[in-house]
Amino acid sequence: MKNKIETLRASKSRLQLGGGEQAIAKQKEMGKLTARERIEQLLDPDTFCEYDLFIRHEAREFGMENKELPGDGVVIGTGKIYGKKVAVFAQDFTVVGGSLGYMHAKKITKIMDYALNMRMPLIGINDSGGARIQEGVNALAGYGDIFYRNTLASGVIPQLSVILGPCAGGAVYSPALTDFVFVVDGISKMFITGPEVIKTVLGEEIDMESLGGARVHCETTGNAHFFARNEAECFQQIRDLIKYVPSHNEEAVSSLNTDEKISKKIIDIEQIIPVDPTKPYDVREVIREITDDGEFIEIQELFAANIVIGFGKMGGKTVGFVANQPMVLAGVLDCDSSDKAARFIRYCDAFNIPIVTLEDMPGYLPGIDQEHAGVIRHGAKMLYAYSEATIPKITVILRKAYGGGYIAMNSRHLGADFVFALPTAEIAVMGPEGAANIIFRKEITAAENPAEMRKIKVQEYKDKFANPYVAAGKGYIDAVIEPNETRDYILNALQLSENKQILSPKKKHGIPPF
Ligand code: HXC
Repeated sequence: MKNKIETLRASKSRLQLGGGEQAIAKQKEMGKLTARERIEQLLDPDTFCEYDLFIRHEAREFGMENKELPGDGVVIGTGKIYGKKVAVFAQDFTVVGGSLGYMHAKKITKIMDYALNMRMPLIGINDSGGARIQEGVNALAGYGDIFYRNTLASGVIPQLSVILGPCAGGAVYSPALTDFVFVVDGISKMFITGPEVIKTVLGEEIDMESLGGARVHCETTGNAHFFARNEAECFQQIRDLIKYVPSHNEEAVSSLNTDEKISKKIIDIEQIIPVDPTKPYDVREVIREITDDGEFIEIQELFAANIVIGFGKMGGKTVGFVANQPMVLAGVLDCDSSDKAARFIRYCDAFNIPIVTLEDMPGYLPGIDQEHAGVIRHGAKMLYAYSEATIPKITVILRKAYGGGYIAMNSRHLGADFVFALPTAEIAVMGPEGAANIIFRKEITAAENPAEMRKIKVQEYKDKFANPYVAAGKGYIDAVIEPNETRDYILNALQLSENKQILSPKKKHGIPPF
């Protein structure tokens, strides 16, 4: 027996070295950790349980039949994060560049099946040269099997993708099908076709970092959700997020914690929001006042910053926040911000996370660029996402709520359960300046002093509509509240809507404006 155990231990040690000392040294030179070191940093200590270490690859061409590929270039297993069960795979770049062959894919799909069947979050660490060229269609089939499972698992278990090396070609579509993508500065690279192909086909020149580096995907494309300066920071971000998301879509929702210490938090929003609607402020400060402990995990912080999305805790429960950001483009809605918010709303709805919407925006951004970029389609995504969401939906109008934006930001008309407004709220078809110029044009141009007349008319419009009382008078707003009462009203609304049930019309699924 002793001999057998020793043989097992020796085999495991050899296989766990992956591509060997030299390949590991090369990995380190690139500033990267090995697959196993990554898993170790990500999970609670001593919780990782590895499977399929002894798998053998099936490549039989180009001399591959004589090669041993430890673990076939991927490490799979289960472990815990803050005591919560998770499933994980990490591609091992030290073994043929972490390239995806048939058995490599089989390992990934096995752990995906575990995660889905046993209802736990799946975390995939990608570091790979893509489809293993020597395996041909078998490698492509492997990708297809993964994409299929990503889609089946979507909305059932949280799926997180971590890009810690190259992720090229069709390989990028697995992360794109998952809920949250994490990238690290200088290490992550994602693209469909690399610089060489682009140069050959189009004659365009670009380096890998500028084409598909971490910043590009966080700031420009919106493909990534979390930006980290190094791998350690990235793993901490993942661990933090796991604290906020349920393990699956049917996880029992706990009741709100009404403990005095939590429910009686004193807040000061009054000093954050300027009464002058043209003055900006950071809406994240408002969110931090509202959450239990001032914590807020922001998602896609660097993309479409005119809208803020993320998770916080209220009464001990996870709440999704969607808030216009007056600091960026006055918080206007546009293609990217609508796209960003709509996806997040659907995420919250799928996982039974209530949404708090904080509204302060002048409407949809006008312009040829926006129209031609499809602001109609992208803007409609928000209408669709809010309307179809059946989770508790609470809106607080902080200041401006103009035009289509008023409707889109979870208005009563899209099914909001509670709508509150601060006394600074202005609810109208458009801002007073624009409105006065249109409806009083004749009076203004005919006046002896048009500038003076414009001022009078703008004021007249402001007095009439730039307040919350017209909407409150029609019942579109449930209560006009003091700024510092905001948290209490939201907490109460969350508690009241804990057992909310909505009967949606029977259908297979809707057709959102993707
Ligand atoms: C087989 C691969 C491989 C691949 C890398 N390797 N990619 N082996 N199939 N796709 C091997 C290399 O031969 C090398 O083996 C080892 O991995 C390390 O690679 P290097 O090139 O030495 O590393 P580096 O210089 O860091 O460059 C990394 C790289 C480059 C940028 C990823 O390897 C590369 O461009 N690879 C090909 C990328 C690609 O075009 N993939 C196919 C994409 S299409 P040795 O033995 O020398 O150590 C695709 C279709 C999917 O994926 C479709 C799904 C729908």
